Amino acid sequence: MSETAKFILGNETYEFPVIVGTENEKGIDISTLRGSSGYVTYDVGYKNTGATQSAITYISGEEGILRYRGYNIEEIANKASFLEVAYLLLEGELPSKEELAKFENEITHHTLVNEKFKFVFDAFPNGAHPMGQLMTMLSMFSAYYPEALNPHRSEEDRRLTIVRLLAKMPTLVAMIMKFKQGHPIVYPNNKLGYVENFLAMTFGHVTEEYVVDPVFVSAMNKLLILHADHEQNCSASTVRLVGSSHANLYASVSAGVAALWGPLHGGANQKVLEMLEAIKEDGGDTQKWLNKAKDKNDPFRLMGFGHRVYKNFDPRAKIIKKSADEILDKMGIDDPILDIAKQLEQAALSDPYFIERKLFPNVDFYSGIIYRALGFPVEMFTVLFALGRLPGWMAQWKELRAEGQPIGRPRQIYTGAAERPFVEIDKR
Ligand code: SDX
Repeated sequence: MSETAKFILGNETYEFPVIVGTENEKGIDISTLRGSSGYVTYDVGYKNTGATQSAITYISGEEGILRYRGYNIEEIANKASFLEVAYLLLEGELPSKEELAKFENEITHHTLVNEKFKFVFDAFPNGAHPMGQLMTMLSMFSAYYPEALNPHRSEEDRRLTIVRLLAKMPTLVAMIMKFKQGHPIVYPNNKLGYVENFLAMTFGHVTEEYVVDPVFVSAMNKLLILHADHEQNCSASTVRLVGSSHANLYASVSAGVAALWGPLHGGANQKVLEMLEAIKEDGGDTQKWLNKAKDKNDPFRLMGFGHRVYKNFDPRAKIIKKSADEILDKMGIDDPILDIAKQLEQAALSDPYFIERKLFPNVDFYSGIIYRALGFPVEMFTVLFALGRLPGWMAQWKELRAEGQPIGRPRQIYTGAAERPFVEIDKR
C-alpha cells in the first residue's frame, strides 16, 4: 500500500499521494490541492517544494553526496573528460569510445562564431561585466540560427542547437577575455581537445603558438566537471521556467546566465576572491570578518559559505580545495589568499554560529583560487561557472521538453488593498 498524506482543512480531509524517488526521497503530490480544496501551499524560496521529478543529478545535503546520472562526483571528476560528462548528463549514459569520438568530432566542427559577434564588444563600454556580455551573445545566437526559435521543429534541430552551444561557449568566453585585454581573438584550433582549445583561445596569442600545459588542462577539466550540474538550483530552475514557456534554448540558457550572475549564486566565486583580498588588505584578521558575518546588523556574509541543500560539506568544495593545494604546489605559487581562505575555513568550522547553522564551504569558496592561479581575472570567474554549468542547464531543459511539462506559473497569497473605487486625478 503506497503512502499518502492527509490534510485536514476546515471540516474536510483531503488525501494526496506520496511519490518516492530512487534514493527514497519523498514528496507529497499536491497537484490536485487547489482544485479540490481551494488552498495553495506557501513556500517562499521553494525551500520545501519539489518543482519536478528528474533523473539527471542526485544531491544528498545531509550526507554530502553529489551524483550525475548515478555516478559519484568524486569518481567522475578524477576519471572523466568534460565532454564525456556533458554527454552523460545530456544522454543519460556514459558514451562508448565511438560515441564519444563522434560527439567530440561534431563539437570540434561547430566551434566557430560568426565574425559579426566581434561588433558586440564595440557596443559595450570598457569594464562591462563579462556576464552581461555572455548573456547578450547567447541570445544573439537565436538570430543567427532562427530554426532554433521553434523548439518543437525537430529532435535534430534541438540536438544541433545543443551541440552548437556546447561548441561555441568556449569560443565566446575566450572572445570576452581577449576583448577585455584589448588583444586580437585567437580562433579555435580543430587539432586540440575541448579544454585545450579553450585554454589556447584564452591564453594563446596570434603571435605565438600556445603550449598546452597538462596541469592547467587537468585543473580546468576538473573545475568544469564539478560545475556541470546541480539539480534544481536557481539558474537551472530559471532555464526550466523559461523553457516551459516554449522559449528557444538560446533564450533559456541566456536567462540561466542571468540567474547565475547573482552574488548569492554563481556570482559568489567572484565575491569570495574580493572578500579574501579585502581581508588580506585589512591585515588578515579573519576573526574580525567572521564577527561581521555573524552580526545581523551587518549585511556582510561569508561568501562561499553556506548552501540551501548541503548541510554537510559540499563534496565539490573538498575536491577543489585539494586541487588548489596541488595546482599551486605544481606551479610553485605561494598564494597568501589560499592561506587566508584556510584560516577562515578553520575558524568558521569551529565557530558555534556556523556549526549551529550547518554552514560549510561551498563550491565557490576555493574555485576562484584556482581560476586566479590559472591566470583568469576575477570578473571572468562566474563566466567560467557558466561554461561548466552549460551541459547541466541543457540536460534540464531537454528533460523538461521531453516530458512536455506545462508552463511554470506559481500561485500567490494576495496581501494588497481590498476592492476600492477609482478616484479621478482632480478629485484626489
Ligand atoms: C551556489 O543551489 C545550488 O545548488 C547552488 C550551487 C550550484 O551548484 O548551482 O551550489 C552554487 O550558488 C553556491 C552558493 C554560493 N553563494 C554563496 O556562497 C553566498 C553566501 N551564502 C549565503 O548567501 C547562503 O548560504 C545561501 C544563499 C547559499 C543559502 O541561503 P539560504 O539557504 O536561503 O539560507 P539562509 O539565507 O536562510 O541562511 C540560514 C541562516 C541565516 O541565519 P539566521 O537568520 O538563521 O540567524 O544562516 C545564515 C543566515 O543569516 N547564513 C550565513 C551565511 N549563509 C547563511 N551567515 C553568514 N554567512 C553566510 N555565508
